[in-house]
Amino acid sequence: MPNLSIISHFYNQPHLVQEQIAYWETLPDAILSQVEFILIDDCSEQPLLYGPTRIDLKVFRIVTQIAWNQPGARNLGSFHARAEWALFFDIDQRFYSEPLDAILKNLAHMDPMTMYNLRSKKSRLGDQDWSDRPNSASDLCFHLNTFLVNLPAFKLHGMYDEDFSGHYGYDDTYMLNVWAKQGGKRVLYNDHEYFNEVGIGTAGLDRDLGYNLSLAENKVRAGLHNSSGVLRFAWEPVQLVTERQTPLADAHRDPNPTCRDLMRRLQGTDIYAGFVPTFAEDRQGWNSQHPAFDCIVAEVRPSVIIDVGVWKGGSTIYLAEALERHAVKGTVIAVDTFLGSLEHTDMASDLVDLIPRRHGTPLLYEQFITNVVRCGVSDRVVPLRQTSTLAAKLLQRIGVQAGLIHIDASHEYDDVLKDARAYWNILAPGGYLVGDDYHPVWPGVMQAADEFSAEVGVSLSIQTPKWIIQKPR
Ligand SMILES: C[S@@+](CC[C@H](N)C(=O)[O-])C[C@H]1O[C@@H](n2cnc3c(N)ncnc32)[C@H](O)[C@@H]1O
Repeated sequence: MPNLSIISHFYNQPHLVQEQIAYWETLPDAILSQVEFILIDDCSEQPLLYGPTRIDLKVFRIVTQIAWNQPGARNLGSFHARAEWALFFDIDQRFYSEPLDAILKNLAHMDPMTMYNLRSKKSRLGDQDWSDRPNSASDLCFHLNTFLVNLPAFKLHGMYDEDFSGHYGYDDTYMLNVWAKQGGKRVLYNDHEYFNEVGIGTAGLDRDLGYNLSLAENKVRAGLHNSSGVLRFAWEPVQLVTERQTPLADAHRDPNPTCRDLMRRLQGTDIYAGFVPTFAEDRQGWNSQHPAFDCIVAEVRPSVIIDVGVWKGGSTIYLAEALERHAVKGTVIAVDTFLGSLEHTDMASDLVDLIPRRHGTPLLYEQFITNVVRCGVSDRVVPLRQTSTLAAKLLQRIGVQAGLIHIDASHEYDDVLKDARAYWNILAPGGYLVGDDYHPVWPGVMQAADEFSAEVGVSLSIQTPKWIIQKPR
């Protein structure tokens, strides 16, 4: 039986869930042997898959769509918790292991009728700031939603009133008022910084407080009684995927010998074996589904396509699907550093936030293979995590030739020209080089494409925003 149930809920934000689980897995055994983790998926748009894990993790998914159902999600967590004490927290917070250890050591001395808020190191600067740097004394803060509570006492004298579900706000403060009316006390544990907060709010939802404010006022006037009825929604336990049941990764349908061979030569192993996606599908990209791709695949029927600059996989997946549509047993080699381009790395740019990150590491590769697996094209895609220039050299060295090469990596003039030259060497006669972003927004791309076309003596065909050159036979 665990001593402590750690409970959190989430709506979307799959990378935060993945980071949280990855972090929990790094906690010392002395802590992990005493705690269970309960995650409630509050009807996220895309259900997540959860891989094998060494932590005691239970996941439940609410399948009734109710906006702002924190009350229901937290109540559901309380009902499934096995420990006597629960630690409720928000998914964008991270507990430090030392103070967590201190909590576990103190549990036996805690008062069941006291709810313990915990001092936080609060930061709204982004995940790179999930650090152990101390706060200055003036930074003392805590979060109303993050507390340690004795579960039998909480269920008897507290819980969340689900009348507040469906609208934003006041569910937490009302719960505290009910708790106080029932004789519950509150204390702030101030001896450590217990956790850190990234401060990522749920986007795109109505945050109007009006409805719940008047609901709370009416309930206070009526004497602070919780309304009857909890768990007013449908929910289901989520099966964690174990190493042997990797349905999506094993969904290699017809064997594709070209793909298998390229996988062996470029990766040495099947990189999809045992991979379980925990991200939601996210095919955000640019000009990924251009009609020229389909026409070229239909005409050339390439057994190898090289996509240079793949981002989250938009163009790669579309090309793999085009192979499927035209019944070509081909493979897309997906070349990318998976670090993002200049414009995705400049913190002043709006595009920075498009990349999920963990401790400063872009998680583009994880998002990419997640998308490939979720879209069912893993039997047609071989990723090659390398700079475009070195990848071209490697592919040339091992004798790969492609019937279609799509160039969409760096958009700087000299990089585009270098990529065009390097990949021209491994383009099969009669094959097509297709570049993205022939557009005045990218003057460097236009200049490089024009110069390259003059250099090889073949005119460009522009199908905005793609620039296209066919290699003479
Ligand atoms: C515009 S995005 C590609 C968009 C993608 N084709 C789509 O359909 O959405 C550019 C990608 O090129 C990659 N990249 C930039 N410079 C690179 C380089 N020198 N070598 C390899 N990849 C690079 C970045 O990591 C980024 O993922």
